[in-house]
Amino acid sequence: MSDRSAASATTARERDALFLLPHYTNLSKRARTGAEIVTHGDRVYIHTTEGRKLLDASSGMWAASLGFSEPGPAEAAIAQLRKFPYYHYGLDKSHEPIVDLAERLAKMVPIANAKIHFATTGSEANDFLVKFLWYMNDAHGLPGKTKILSHRDAWHGSTIAACSMSGIARCHTGFNLPLPGFIHLTPPNAYRYALEGESIDAFVDRLCDELEQRILAEGADTIAAMIVEPVNGAAGVVVPPQDYYPRIQAILARHNILAIADEIITGFGRTGQMFGSQTVGLRPDAMTFAKGFSAAYVPVSAIAMAPIIHEGLTQGSDKHGFFAHGSTFAGHPVGCAAALKTLEIIEERDLVGHVRRMSPILQSKLERYKDHPLVGQVRGVGLMWALELTANRSTRQPLKQTGATANQIAVECEKRGLIIRNLATGDTIAFAPPLIINEQEIDDAFERFDEAFNEAIKWAKERGFVG
Ligand SMILES: Cc1ncc(COP(=O)(O)O)c(C=O)c1O
Repeated sequence: MSDRSAASATTARERDALFLLPHYTNLSKRARTGAEIVTHGDRVYIHTTEGRKLLDASSGMWAASLGFSEPGPAEAAIAQLRKFPYYHYGLDKSHEPIVDLAERLAKMVPIANAKIHFATTGSEANDFLVKFLWYMNDAHGLPGKTKILSHRDAWHGSTIAACSMSGIARCHTGFNLPLPGFIHLTPPNAYRYALEGESIDAFVDRLCDELEQRILAEGADTIAAMIVEPVNGAAGVVVPPQDYYPRIQAILARHNILAIADEIITGFGRTGQMFGSQTVGLRPDAMTFAKGFSAAYVPVSAIAMAPIIHEGLTQGSDKHGFFAHGSTFAGHPVGCAAALKTLEIIEERDLVGHVRRMSPILQSKLERYKDHPLVGQVRGVGLMWALELTANRSTRQPLKQTGATANQIAVECEKRGLIIRNLATGDTIAFAPPLIINEQEIDDAFERFDEAFNEAIKWAKERGFVG
């Protein structure tokens, strides 16, 4: 493909290879092969120019919560585009969709007297929030209270601060990240990080002790906040032990360190409650939203913040005479209109209840694999589930060529018209289908998955990756 001239590249796949510098892929391979072109969707299915129909059990990037053909957010976006295509919400102007959405969200979040700030992507919301915490602490006379705690393996986004908060080593390597002042702690993933013979209670004790000791070593007056995904997505769908967050929260509060929930995957029903924080018993001082916020129909993201933060920002603005922060497309009226409609649909159709009804069905399909000699753990909540492979169920030893077998499962699934996500941490595959998925579609997914799984394990055995 790379020696083709631009003139002879005609199909979208060929032009993809020639003209795009894509993301999350091997660039040389992509320049040779191009990519499959997705043209349209139909509930939980996507269609490609090659005539393939795939059930996307990963919702794009954990995002398309209403699937790919829900008219509501699309019509709301089109109506807003026709009515008034663009305005910002800075200087002394605002617009109706952003005010309506801010009010609706402020009344939904489990933060009293919250105020809402808007951005465009999840990464940007997390990045902005770091700036806000720094600005707030400066206004409070604590300019050195800047460090951010987060979890190893967590994912908070691709911008410089969001990627620094993230704990996935391969996303730092080569990019000169993380920045100093971003500290990664052991995540509440007992399967991966509990010591041999360690009980869950002892594991949580150890993690709490790690946090406390780290705060003491760094100095609480140097740490602004800890940011967490209530259920870590990219880290392998890590559902924390029940008392982990209440205990972590108590330690943070004692040291005057804020708790931030990155709800970019877990917000708006994914975990079977409206917010992941409610599922795990976390009471955050701020929450960030994107992805399912607008069902991914139009990019829009948000930060909901408690008075300590928004009052701190106001103090800073008074101190400096101006809140010198903003972004042209933040809170775009078309994104706000799509998000507002999405939230209406989620509430009117009781989609959170639907997630709770579908969750045990998806769980039972995965739990058929629980006793497979290569399956270490099946875990999840709501409509986010993972299956982790191991070479040895008692020692939880990873497979040889870690990641290759999970990747092959994803490849075999793709061949059979199913998209699942193989994750960067170990041989783990994740299911996070659109929240609208029904029982028949779950059956369809697993007919494809069962065949793909067996084929991939055969492939791995032939290569000696599994015994
Ligand atoms: C938990 C979490 N936070 C933040 C982000 C970044 O969001 P975006 O890709 O919209 O920048 C992601 C993206 O996958 C995510 O999963």
